[in-house]
Amino acid sequence: MASQVESFIRKVVAEGAIKVAEFNRWRPRVVAKANPFLIGIHEPLGDEATLENPEVTGTIPPELDGCYLRNGPNPIEANPATYHWFLGDGMIHGLRLKHGKAQWYKNRWVRTSSVSKALGEPPAPGTRNGRFDTVNTNILGHAGKIWALVEAGGFPVEIDGDLETVAHNPFAGTLHGAFTAHPHVDPDTGEMHAICYDAQILDAVRYVVVGADGRVRRDEKIAVEHGPSIHDCAITENYVIVLDLPVTFSMKSLLAGQDFPYAWNPKHRARVGLLPRKHPGELVWCEVAPCYVFHPANAYERADGKIVFDACVHDTMFAQNAHGPVSARLAFERWTIDPVTRRVNREVIDPDAQEFPRIDQRRTGKPYRFAYALAVENGSAEAMPQTRLFKHDLETGRREVHDFGPNRLPGEFTFVPRSAGSAEDDGWLMGFVLNAKNGTADFVVLDAQNFAGPPQAEVHLARRIPPGFHGNWVASGTG
Ligand SMILES: [Fe+2]
Repeated sequence: MASQVESFIRKVVAEGAIKVAEFNRWRPRVVAKANPFLIGIHEPLGDEATLENPEVTGTIPPELDGCYLRNGPNPIEANPATYHWFLGDGMIHGLRLKHGKAQWYKNRWVRTSSVSKALGEPPAPGTRNGRFDTVNTNILGHAGKIWALVEAGGFPVEIDGDLETVAHNPFAGTLHGAFTAHPHVDPDTGEMHAICYDAQILDAVRYVVVGADGRVRRDEKIAVEHGPSIHDCAITENYVIVLDLPVTFSMKSLLAGQDFPYAWNPKHRARVGLLPRKHPGELVWCEVAPCYVFHPANAYERADGKIVFDACVHDTMFAQNAHGPVSARLAFERWTIDPVTRRVNREVIDPDAQEFPRIDQRRTGKPYRFAYALAVENGSAEAMPQTRLFKHDLETGRREVHDFGPNRLPGEFTFVPRSAGSAEDDGWLMGFVLNAKNGTADFVVLDAQNFAGPPQAEVHLARRIPPGFHGNWVASGTG
């Protein structure tokens, strides 16, 4: 009963706070400076397009039969004073490859309620998780369907092979609460593992497992304080790694009318949780120095029982009111976590600022050798103004660089293996590159084993593609 009363009070307080926040959000105010995530390279597109048979240079590998899909924010309507990059309406950009040809490029908004209304369409079908149904962060294939994903609120949205919204779909009614944009598929079972949080629930997050059949088969609460923002997680053979770090829900930001109510919280103890995922057992919390991680690259267990966890680590995040992520120091680190002593040993793999690390996903949760990441700039208000990708050989410590050249700005690049049985790193990296000078973009395929060399193929698009978040390859017949 006590929890019912608490839930009721929290709901009433939250609804009141939302009303105040909505008033403050649209209250006229002086915009001190332009919002960097609404202008320049980030200026949102105003339309949806289809480009048939775009021009290609190089050779598209004939093995690639499917679609590269990428999700990201592209607001139809935004208040520059309060807009946050993480909350813009989702737009999918897609590139279809078959028989060594680029068949089409398309971009489509994810049909959330506000997008459908703005476009003069009826709402997309399906169940919503409360009022906020923006889905703008990731897109992937699972259980024969394509899913657009977001954390903290909106249910997954099913997308068809032409990038059209099918329905808001909480995994056939089996998901009861917010999901995440970063589930991790266990390559041995095909199950997706996720740590999920809900913006309106401050004292718990959830460990959710979605089976290979696309239905939730496990949903467990984990007690936390302050409503931490947990963007991603990692899995190993026996554990799920829970990142309970000091970016937490901020009532102050919400009441001020900021669209993104999360802030750096020095009072929140930074800790990493090891949650047994195969056998019953206690969640082991290990303290770390305050920091923030959006994206791990991978994690695995060593023979001595210690856990290796590689990630891009920010010194702080959202410490001041900004319209996107800014940190003073960001590096690629290796953490070695001892579940017995609960100590975390941090080492820097690469001190250069980088984000969006990706791996060969067949190595998820297992010892691995290669990681690929996007160079970014510390303290940059634009978030992604760099021209380089990195490839890390974690065995030799060697780093290779692919530089796209002046004014050519890559986003996240995704690794696609040459075949199911090919070796780690034997395959391609793919993603979009914005040509900042002339307002066009390219879809670029790199040979991962000739990383610094010329691209394997480039598909030239007579359209700008603003920086976005995460993309994946969906092979024909798998999504
Ligand atoms: Fe992310």
